[in-house]
Amino acid sequence: MPNHRQIMLTPYRDGPLLVRGPAHVVDADGRELPRRRDPIALCRCGKSRLRPLCDGTHKLIDFRAGGAPDSGCDGAGELERLGLALAQE
Ligand code: FES
Repeated sequence: MPNHRQIMLTPYRDGPLLVRGPAHVVDADGRELPRRRDPIALCRCGKSRLRPLCDGTHKLIDFRAGGAPDSGCDGAGELERLGLALAQE
């Protein structure tokens, strides 16, 4: 169980990448995403109208993706694919 100071990345099966904990999420240009909630959900399907945030569109398009490291999905790789990085608060 993570403590309140740990950052945790959780790729949800057929859904977004959740970021929990004290993290700043920045894009490739160093711009910080506004953080209004914890966790934040980052879009993995590429169809959200709020990218890089998830807006639930993945359900409408029947997006399929693994949710575990042994399925070829890992949180750090997903962040890199999204052009994002984390920094600890
Ligand atoms: S993962 Fe939810 S809208 Fe893309």
